[in-house]
Amino acid sequence: MDSFKETQNRRNTRSVKWDAMEQVYDLQDASDILPMWIADMDFPAPEPVLKAMKNRLEHPVFGYSFVCDDCKTAVRDWQLKRNNWNIEKQWLHFHQGIIPAIAAIIETFTEKHDKILVTPPVYPPFFLLSQNQGREVIYSELIERAGDYAMDFEDFEQKLQDASVFILCNPHNPGGRVWTESELKEIIRLCSKYDVLIISDEIHGDLIFEPNRHVPLAKIAGDEKDRIITCLAPTKTFNLAGIQIAMTVTSDYEKCVKLDQYALAHGTGALNSFASVALKAAYEECEPWLEQLLILLDNNMEFAIKELTSNVQGLRITKPQSTYLLWIDYRELGWSEHDVMEKLLVHGNVALEPGSKYGEAGIGFLRLNAACPQKTLEEGIKRIIQAFSLCVKEKESISL
Ligand SMILES: Cc1ncc(COP(=O)(O)O)c(C=O)c1O
Repeated sequence: MDSFKETQNRRNTRSVKWDAMEQVYDLQDASDILPMWIADMDFPAPEPVLKAMKNRLEHPVFGYSFVCDDCKTAVRDWQLKRNNWNIEKQWLHFHQGIIPAIAAIIETFTEKHDKILVTPPVYPPFFLLSQNQGREVIYSELIERAGDYAMDFEDFEQKLQDASVFILCNPHNPGGRVWTESELKEIIRLCSKYDVLIISDEIHGDLIFEPNRHVPLAKIAGDEKDRIITCLAPTKTFNLAGIQIAMTVTSDYEKCVKLDQYALAHGTGALNSFASVALKAAYEECEPWLEQLLILLDNNMEFAIKELTSNVQGLRITKPQSTYLLWIDYRELGWSEHDVMEKLLVHGNVALEPGSKYGEAGIGFLRLNAACPQKTLEEGIKRIIQAFSLCVKEKESISL
């Protein structure tokens, strides 16, 4: 697909990825820096989404907009088609993003000082948002073995005894793990044993590489499904983060009522005029686009891993089972995060995410976003290799 090949000039589009690097990385000038950090893609949205939004723009009145039944149908049908997960339309609530959705859940179902359990290294807002709401965050680090992550169920069970909520990243960002059905069932069993509410963030659930399969947690939860609130969105899948759309799904009537009350109390729950049409077009018409995207992302991952590991001795990268994010392990090189980030930004002119953002368990790792045209990826990889080569040269000259 040509739209995956063409490079887009995204500077001066109010893009966080391209236009906010000065603030985020504390730089005077980031105009030469290639961003490979925050998780959005450098690809245009699928044509049917653009067409639907242009059509909407043709009508010049932008009065109040509500979530029509056809949006709910589109979400339901997509989950049935992609994951064989049967959800009812009345289980859905709409939000302006997964982050606001998780915030709503925490505010609605926990009290100040309640404990929220997370499994780092993990998507930072899980713990930052909980802390900012005055909740206590407890951590059960994942076990890392040769680049593969697993739950530490012994530690997890111990921590669950004090927790009110567990936030699961399914599949996992940044490790790219697609949890197996048996791992998910063990999570459900333990959360049920200690009566813990589960938030299952499944925003990356459409970005899965063969032969892996996404398993929606609530789909396999049986009688325990009411303790789960699933977060979904078309925004990661179809590159629509700036349009701001997300959904929560819960089969528990009482939880639905409480989420309704939350929406009434905060004036939330609607989608803007463009979000509704984008959502409907994405889920109804863009499956072929997604299939093409997955092939391209898979190739990008293979390419980046091969180039980086063959040119920089000591880097270890496991191919992710999902997402377009590479989790690069440089611990063997023995360098500090500060040194590596400085070399990447100042000498390589490339911005990656420092692993410590994802919790202490992320120290010694970098997160690279590989969702860009091949040409951009090649340039980015070249810059990373250059920065690491400089690190090697400096260390060698010090040890001489
Ligand atoms: C696991 C996870 N949840 C949520 C988000 C952000 O969701 P939203 O943009 O809908 O707030 C991201 C973005 O990278 C993510 O990786």
